[in-house]
Amino acid sequence: MELTLNKLSKHYGNKIAVDSITTTLKPGLNALLGANGSGKTTMLRMIVDIINPTSGEVLYNGEPIRKLKEAYLSDIGYMPQHLGMYPNFKVEEFLMYMATLKGLHKSYAKERMDILLKLVHLEDKRKAKIKTLSGGMYQRLGIVVALLNDPKILILDEPTAGLDPKERMHFKNIISSICQEKIVILSTHIVSDISEIADQIIIMKEGNIISHDIPEKLLEEMQGKVYLLHIPNEEASNIQNGTIVSKKVGKEMTTLRVISDQKLENGEVIEPNLNDLYLYHFQDGESI
Ligand SMILES: Nc1ncnc2c1ncn2[C@@H]1O[C@H](COP(=O)(O)OP(=O)(O)OP(=O)(O)O)[C@@H](O)[C@H]1O
Ligand SMILES: [Mg+2]
Repeated sequence: MELTLNKLSKHYGNKIAVDSITTTLKPGLNALLGANGSGKTTMLRMIVDIINPTSGEVLYNGEPIRKLKEAYLSDIGYMPQHLGMYPNFKVEEFLMYMATLKGLHKSYAKERMDILLKLVHLEDKRKAKIKTLSGGMYQRLGIVVALLNDPKILILDEPTAGLDPKERMHFKNIISSICQEKIVILSTHIVSDISEIADQIIIMKEGNIISHDIPEKLLEEMQGKVYLLHIPNEEASNIQNGTIVSKKVGKEMTTLRVISDQKLENGEVIEPNLNDLYLYHFQDGESI
């Protein structure tokens, strides 16, 4: 099973949201990282066939999705970035309604609903109105909707937005438990959401995929670029090159984690992690 993006582009007037992307996605967790506006949602919406590409195409097992139509869509589960779920519906009612829209048989839908509400620990919320759910519960209900049809391809667009650390951890465990034998694409800004569980990492920048590989390989490319500096406070502002990932100011000494392409003489080279990789590409840290 594979999903191929072939020179996939989306233009909005002069704006190139997705710029001729070519790549292949396989079963497992494909983590999609990118800053705001890098084109993640636009790419995902073309994959789920909500918007048409300006040029290029998506192929499912070698066949253009445009030709497969329903045969493709019935294999897809999608959790959009902005979930719109009816606040006055009860959880159970809403899920049955969504199952009908997806064309699922009533008895099958009930069976799936039972399994999935258990999976996300919402079985005691069946009768609760959607507006009474916490943010984390709401997101978990979003994933139930996406999984109702037992999709082979699962697309999750920033599913952990707004969750607290405990809910994030819970969500992460749910995701890693359902990734086998499905092509899962999960977009996020939060690297810790996908560290340890991503099979592949895709980094998007300005409409392009700038890296796509297994995490170990991407980290290899970061080797020798991450330093720990332990320097007197007064020298901490004199460093010329690099991006500060973290800074801890003590009484006399400052400890800095710095990413730098150039060798830092007074630094100790340390093991890079995925957060360093993200900041290396997006320079979100304080630049020095
Ligand atoms: N319908 C649209 N009309 C015009 N421009 C759009 C439209 N949708 C997206 N864009 C632009 O395309 C670019 C990519 O947007 P997109 O929503 O795909 O990014 P993203 O990576 O999902 O961002 P975020 O992390 O904020 O969700 C942005 O510059 C955005 O302003
Ligand atoms: Mg988005």
